[in-house]
Amino acid sequence: MTFLFNSDARRGAVFAEAFARELPEVPFAMDPATVDPDAVRYLITWTVPQDLARYRNLEILFSLGAGVDQFRFDVVAANVKVVRMIEEGIVRMMQEYVTLSVLALHRNLPAYLGQQRAGEWHDIPQLPAASRRIGVLGLGQLGQAVLDRLKPFGFQLAGWSRSPKQIEGVACHHGELGLKQMLAASDILVCLLPLTDETRGFLNADLFARLPKGAALVHTGRGPQLHHEGLLAALDSGHLSSAMIDVTDPEPLPAGHPFWSHPKIILTPHVASVTQPVTAARAVIDNIRRHRAGLDPIGLVDRLRGY
Ligand code: NDP
Ligand code: OXD
Repeated sequence: MTFLFNSDARRGAVFAEAFARELPEVPFAMDPATVDPDAVRYLITWTVPQDLARYRNLEILFSLGAGVDQFRFDVVAANVKVVRMIEEGIVRMMQEYVTLSVLALHRNLPAYLGQQRAGEWHDIPQLPAASRRIGVLGLGQLGQAVLDRLKPFGFQLAGWSRSPKQIEGVACHHGELGLKQMLAASDILVCLLPLTDETRGFLNADLFARLPKGAALVHTGRGPQLHHEGLLAALDSGHLSSAMIDVTDPEPLPAGHPFWSHPKIILTPHVASVTQPVTAARAVIDNIRRHRAGLDPIGLVDRLRGY
């Protein structure tokens, strides 16, 4: 009953140490070449390896990331449970990144950076936080955690998901009508949706037109959700004021792409949040224990929904 770790050696060493301490009865391996494929019951990886079929007794395929859009489900046997990463470290980093972004856009940082480069010294009228409306697309583990972290600043908070939700201090929306209502009332829109057939190309010209004039975007979902030309047109026309973009398609962007130098865009290289090995190993070990006790792992992916 082997656990196979298919990723970088640095994080692998942390996992190996945690397995030796917490789950010594499950042998831990990092080298597929030396492992008996029939013994592999658990595999953790960022993408599905091409030779997945050799692990005939696989029970759980763990994603190293919170997103699973990089997995090809059609090559994963139907009886294998696919589990995404739900762990404290990734949640905390996303809380930090979105708080940083919302505060930067709320306090007009992109415009002030432009003024600094131009040698200009003047203030921009500042809205109080209580008048700034933040809308979060996606109310899953990350969307909810981010909203919770934003609460002390006193912003008006809203969120949108597929199913109805109730979250204290957050106006929760769902469905097409809910989306329309939230977009019309979002000064800063944060995207934390998973990439699925339904969300591909979601952040496009039509959606931007439904935001109030001067609204800003924080995009930390997945690159293919964002239509680049749509964003550039909305920024250049002045309908949108600014954007913090962490994910793009492709990654990295080619040299000369307008996002690299656009004065209204702050670009980061898909670093909003990263799986933290100490807390991730704990979460994976807990999930193996749950699975062996006959319980569903936390973060079990619904393959039909795609997340
Ligand atoms: P979850 O699965 O916990 O939450 C997803 C949320 O999106 C749910 O609230 C879900 O609604 C909602 N949703 C999904 N599809 C739709 C739809 N078609 N219409 C309306 N709502 C929808 O995901 P996480 O919070 O863990 O992660 C979200 C994404 O963040 C990941 O998939 C990944 O792409 C991205 N990410 C980015 C990182 C980065 O560094 N930039 C790092 C980590 C993650 P419901 O609750 O009703 O199911
Ligand atoms: C993830 C990511 O999905 O890092 O975890 O993007």
